[in-house]
Amino acid sequence: MSTTNTSPRPFIYADNRLTCSGVDLTDLADTYGTPLYVYSADAIRERLGMLQTEFAAIPNTLCYAVKANSSLAILKLLSEQDCGFDIVSGGELERVRRAAPSALSRVVFSGVGKQVWEMDAALAADILLFNVESEAELEILSQRASAAGKIARIALRVNPDVFAETHPYISTGLREHKFGIAIERAREVYRRAAQLPNLEPAGVSVHIGSQIRDVEPFAQSLQRVRSLVEELRADGHNIRYVDGGGGFGIEYGNAAFNPAASVAAYATAIRSALDGLNAHLLLEPGRFLVAQAGALLTRVLYTKQNGTKHFVIADAAMNDLIRPALYQAHHEILPVIAASPEHARPNQTADIVGPVCETGDFFARDRTLPELRAGDLAVLLDAGAYGMSLASHYNTRVHPAEVLIDHGQPRLIRRRETLDSILAPELL
Ligand code: LLP
Repeated sequence: MSTTNTSPRPFIYADNRLTCSGVDLTDLADTYGTPLYVYSADAIRERLGMLQTEFAAIPNTLCYAVKANSSLAILKLLSEQDCGFDIVSGGELERVRRAAPSALSRVVFSGVGKQVWEMDAALAADILLFNVESEAELEILSQRASAAGKIARIALRVNPDVFAETHPYISTGLREHKFGIAIERAREVYRRAAQLPNLEPAGVSVHIGSQIRDVEPFAQSLQRVRSLVEELRADGHNIRYVDGGGGFGIEYGNAAFNPAASVAAYATAIRSALDGLNAHLLLEPGRFLVAQAGALLTRVLYTKQNGTKHFVIADAAMNDLIRPALYQAHHEILPVIAASPEHARPNQTADIVGPVCETGDFFARDRTLPELRAGDLAVLLDAGAYGMSLASHYNTRVHPAEVLIDHGQPRLIRRRETLDSILAPELL
């Protein structure tokens, strides 16, 4: 097979057949069934490497946002490349403990609603930093740390009141959002934190939203954080960490996208905002690392014509990948067997939908694609982030299986669920 990959994705055609890191997707569907999430380990390592290279000149820890894709095998892979983790629950902490126990010292714990048992577990694990989002949380954390005989290193998540262009559901950096503490009040809250037993104010954190393509909002918010760090240091706090959050976006469409160049611009914006501050930078990338490394492989069950509309009904649905339904997100769709002289696929405009009983259960509307017929395989690209991690059992559908391709070898990293396994917790 001859292939040259200039695409930001590991999914490329070889001899008109779609492959992932050299593995034929038709073979994967035959072996593991559909719907199937397929990820490339090399693609994930490559993205992490880009960030590591760009930030190598300054002290930093990259803390992968587990929520983007919390598969144990992917956490393990990232930890083997020295990655840390950003968690938002005791459940995610447990995932890190099982997949990458040596990375617990590189964990930051974010989230507006931490529960006592979650704080206790994180204290016992000696994580790096708690990103605290309210004064009430500070008081509880201080009590729990005292009870455990531990010192909790904390950063306040400040809300910088910076607007970043993204979908309103995933924008977080404005005053009206539930996240963080208004930056104007931060000094007063740090003063309070320093008085509370067993808390050590050690950092400042910020996260302005997700799928942000422009680097300017990151620069702006970190400039505000920088001024705050300088004030806090003048107030006598030993602030060593600046956590810049996650949020760096990708190109979901088929416009040109050069991830290495984008990361370079992102890193330049961040580094210059923090230049000379002498702080250890933490970042919480999720989507950028895993989205384009993954795709959802699905088989067409039926096609049908309703009036003027043509429908392609796939075996994957909104419960497997909710992004189009929830955020009107665009995912590119490709046939696994490309159009060729032997295999004609005239373009056709169709709605690509799933079997779930909701009109919102669609992957694309009025999309012009090479014709898909019953039995054909297709992929939804860029589904490695917020795909499986948002999957549900709606309509009593089992979660898809997941396969990771590493060094040219596919490995099942999550078995397909069974009806028994999803019904097991229910009582009659
Ligand atoms: N750190 C914090 C505190 C976050 O809330 C998030 C994402 C991240 C880091 C990672 O952001 P990323 O680098 O992945 O953009 N389900 C939505 C995205 C929700 C993002 C939630 N927070 C989607 O599918 O677009």
